[in-house]
Amino acid sequence: MKIIKEANYEALSKKSAEIIRAQVSENPASVLGLATGSTPTGTYEELVRMYKQGAVDFAKVSAFNLDEYFPIKKSSDQSYDYFMKQQFFRHVNVAKTFIPNGEAPDYAAECENYEKQVAESGGIDLQLLGIGNNGHIGFNEPNDYFPAATHYVMLDESTIKANARFFANESDVPRHAITMGIRTIFKAKKILLLASGAGKAEIVKQMVSGKITPQNPSSILQLHPDVTIIVDNDAGRLL
Ligand code: PGA
Repeated sequence: MKIIKEANYEALSKKSAEIIRAQVSENPASVLGLATGSTPTGTYEELVRMYKQGAVDFAKVSAFNLDEYFPIKKSSDQSYDYFMKQQFFRHVNVAKTFIPNGEAPDYAAECENYEKQVAESGGIDLQLLGIGNNGHIGFNEPNDYFPAATHYVMLDESTIKANARFFANESDVPRHAITMGIRTIFKAKKILLLASGAGKAEIVKQMVSGKITPQNPSSILQLHPDVTIIVDNDAGRLL
């Protein structure tokens, strides 16, 4: 694992965007894996800025998001579909965008379909990840096994609490989601994980040097051959 420490969130976001820009410059038809949450918003802002300056072109890029609540209307301002459009897609020229369909009539069929779409893309070149306070990546929650493929998941109580900040009430947070599995994520050639803030310091330490266990899904990243972790000083203070 390569660990990059930046002074603060702004520097972390710039570094992360630069790595994505370099990937797209090297391979203009890159397949990117993208993430939602508070952490990557600075990266998207920076990429939009670069795009407007002509420093990056997404015209041949495909993008696959990690996860989506289920069920949820795409038009809901809490959906990850909506988040991605607002934060990134409506500002840039990404050719093809994929997000698990929170409106699908049958979640099992949608999981299978999404897994197939990722495979048919030729595989993800660079997967962007955040990390939950509980060690989740995507919505792969602490568990007694590592779910391999894209799957339907019941959200952990800790995730519901953490995500309640985006909703009017905790009871409004969807209880289920569709997420890429650990194998789906692991097939990415490169992984770029971002963590910011003191609240992530302990889980970041566990991810990097703790026991590899499905109770901390991020710990499996110790086994991936090409992982870059960018932390700010607060998230990296125990490393
Ligand atoms: P956050 O979420 O970026 O909002 O902290 C990270 C995650 O849950 O993966």
